[in-house]
Amino acid sequence: MSLQDLLEVVPSGSDELPLVRSIDFERLPRHVAIIMDGNGRWAKLRHKRRVEGHRAGSASVRDVVETSARLGLQVLTLYAFSVENWKRPKAEVSTLMGLLKHYLRIELSTLLKNNIRFQVIGRPGLPEDVASELARGTERTRHCTGLHFNIALNYGGRAEITDAVRRLVAEAVAGKNGDPIEEDTISSYLYTAGQPDPDLLIRTSGEMRVSNFLLWQIAYSEIWVTDVLWPDFRRRHLLQAIADYQKRERRYGGIAPV
Ligand code: FPP
Repeated sequence: MSLQDLLEVVPSGSDELPLVRSIDFERLPRHVAIIMDGNGRWAKLRHKRRVEGHRAGSASVRDVVETSARLGLQVLTLYAFSVENWKRPKAEVSTLMGLLKHYLRIELSTLLKNNIRFQVIGRPGLPEDVASELARGTERTRHCTGLHFNIALNYGGRAEITDAVRRLVAEAVAGKNGDPIEEDTISSYLYTAGQPDPDLLIRTSGEMRVSNFLLWQIAYSEIWVTDVLWPDFRRRHLLQAIADYQKRERRYGGIAPV
């Protein structure tokens, strides 16, 4: 995917065009991770129920997945449901689960058409009907070689590291893995094994927190926070984040070249 693929969906004369043209396609972030936040506030501002915010947020998901694929990003990870989100009212949790199921049912053919590989990251424990729909999406898109789309569900960064360490220790005790433990070893036991770490972490709705998201993987990520609430987040905001990312100098603890 490329500039041409992106231009296909940006109307001619649109004020987004200068933004599209400002993107350097040779220096795209390989992995963009997004904390989708602000659905509840979006609904409240419109005197609607919170679940309406989540429903509206699904449209942003569609837009961002399509834009990421057209841009040619390698990996997109969306934080949709945390291990802590079970504390929300039952009706809200079940609406979120329903939206996920519905999203995959409707979007599977689009994912396949666009060569998008779908993967769930997180702990098991989702309702059976949702889990089987997600498993079907994962299986059907396994061969896709374009955008790798992770959706974090029943996810927690500490839970992920705990699961990785448990598995590593269990394998060592069973004599299956006696290699010295390096940083790469830990990475290879995470849900995101084999994927590049996020170069860019986006958070919507202005909150300055990482909320237990990809704790190991975001060690050197550039962070971009916008006041835009998730249901209002569209292609232009993703492009703005990427354009801004491309202006930054990443030093990984070193110093700027002279
Ligand atoms: C945060 O907003 C958002 C979530 C916990 C859920 C994200 C879910 C979606 C965007 C919809 C379904 C997803 C897919 C992939 C189809 P919040 O409720 O915490 O907002 P608030 O902080 O304003 O209350």
